[in-house]
Amino acid sequence: MSEISSLPLGLAGADAIALGRLGQELATAWDGFRRPRPQQPVAGEALRALLSDPLPEAGMPLPEAIDATMAVLDTSLAQSRPRYFGFVGGSGLESAVLADALAESFDINMASWSAAATDLEPQAIGWLASFLGYPAADGHFTSGGTVSNVTALAAARRRVLPQARTEGMAGHRLALYCSAEAHASIVRAAELLGLGSNAVRALPQRADRGVDPAAVAAAIAADRAEGILPLAVVATAGTTLTGAIDPIDALADICAEHQVWLHVDGAYGAPAAAVMPEAFKGMERADSLTVDPHKWLYLPKACGAVLVRDPDILEATFGHDKSYMPDEDELPNAVDRTLEYSRPFRALKLWLAFRVHGAERFRAAIECNLAHARLAYDLVEEHPRLRALTGPPTLSVVAFQHLPEDPAADVNAHNARIARRLQRDGRVWVASAAVDGQVAIRPCFVNFRTTEPDVRALIDEVCEAGAQV
Ligand SMILES: Cc1ncc(COP(=O)(O)O)c(C=O)c1O
Repeated sequence: MSEISSLPLGLAGADAIALGRLGQELATAWDGFRRPRPQQPVAGEALRALLSDPLPEAGMPLPEAIDATMAVLDTSLAQSRPRYFGFVGGSGLESAVLADALAESFDINMASWSAAATDLEPQAIGWLASFLGYPAADGHFTSGGTVSNVTALAAARRRVLPQARTEGMAGHRLALYCSAEAHASIVRAAELLGLGSNAVRALPQRADRGVDPAAVAAAIAADRAEGILPLAVVATAGTTLTGAIDPIDALADICAEHQVWLHVDGAYGAPAAAVMPEAFKGMERADSLTVDPHKWLYLPKACGAVLVRDPDILEATFGHDKSYMPDEDELPNAVDRTLEYSRPFRALKLWLAFRVHGAERFRAAIECNLAHARLAYDLVEEHPRLRALTGPPTLSVVAFQHLPEDPAADVNAHNARIARRLQRDGRVWVASAAVDGQVAIRPCFVNFRTTEPDVRALIDEVCEAGAQV
């Protein structure tokens, strides 16, 4: 038998090179993110060849491998850049990147008791809850809004139909109530939890795009009359499409009257409750809340959170007896309260970011993004060739159209072409979206590096592209 004389993997001996390069590349990247790029570079021939390499049997020297890595990153779309306005992104906050690098190195598994890390997670959840003004009794970090929404709705199902854990739906019919503008992850949750997508009542919205509470009450009554059990009302606190906030307090009244679980999907918008709590009135009454620190708290992915008010419901929903994972000191393992098993130490990045910046800097950054959206809206309103598709922004999304010079031209096709052109050009990155059947340019302002000149540049670039396509 051959003797095992050295470790087969690891960087020992090259630590200095690795750490030197890491420091150097991070410094260049962070400095670069502080200003816009003249354009987005595209992958050259060498990189394309590299990306079709077969599995390497032997490794390459570390400096060369890092060069290859940087070539990939440099030609990828980075949401950290100040002129990335697409979708609802994070922005790679440096303090949280540092926490991620350290947490990944220690490779802590939050599934079971992990000493100090296990004590830190509830503290970070408590800080998050206190920042948002939500009275959480339990909660944990997840991979994002989708998993948080599934987790919360699984808890609601445990409350409404406890036997579903053992018997499945067994002929019971359940329904979910939300706005027609709710995120698709709500439909996904209905599919995964055995309700089926037809059980999602996507209800009409009022003029301010919040769901109509009368429609929710009527749908619950109609379902009850048919023997269908209401699973939950999902209030979206910041829709992905337009940033609309459902009337949470009115929905909480309906839920209290009909004894229905209230879930708030604040994946995108909930952080704004820290600066404009009146718009989120009633959120504190919700049974569960989804919020994504990897969106409007600027953290790198993946970092979502799900918070609940009933301290026992998550364990009742997810607990299992497992002979291979004994509980420490009678305390249930975290995995008995989470959807995921192995779970990275995501709590650390929010914890370190709050430690470094304090809640007040986060509130200031959110206020800036709200001001960016108002500025963008005003610039659109002032411009003869631009038209807003909604009223003044509730949060930090603005949906608008550029009007082609030819009045007979197809406005939707024109705006889709503008978005594509801007995405290829790369000076600003913005997505298009359909708002009430109209194709809109739809920037979302959730980046702490964005400045007023960046907002003005976005409007100028849209107008320039609009004149050219
Ligand atoms: C309101 C809302 N809910 C849920 C999600 C899903 O979040 P994730 O992509 O982190 O799973 C999003 C994503 O944009 C969202 O905006």
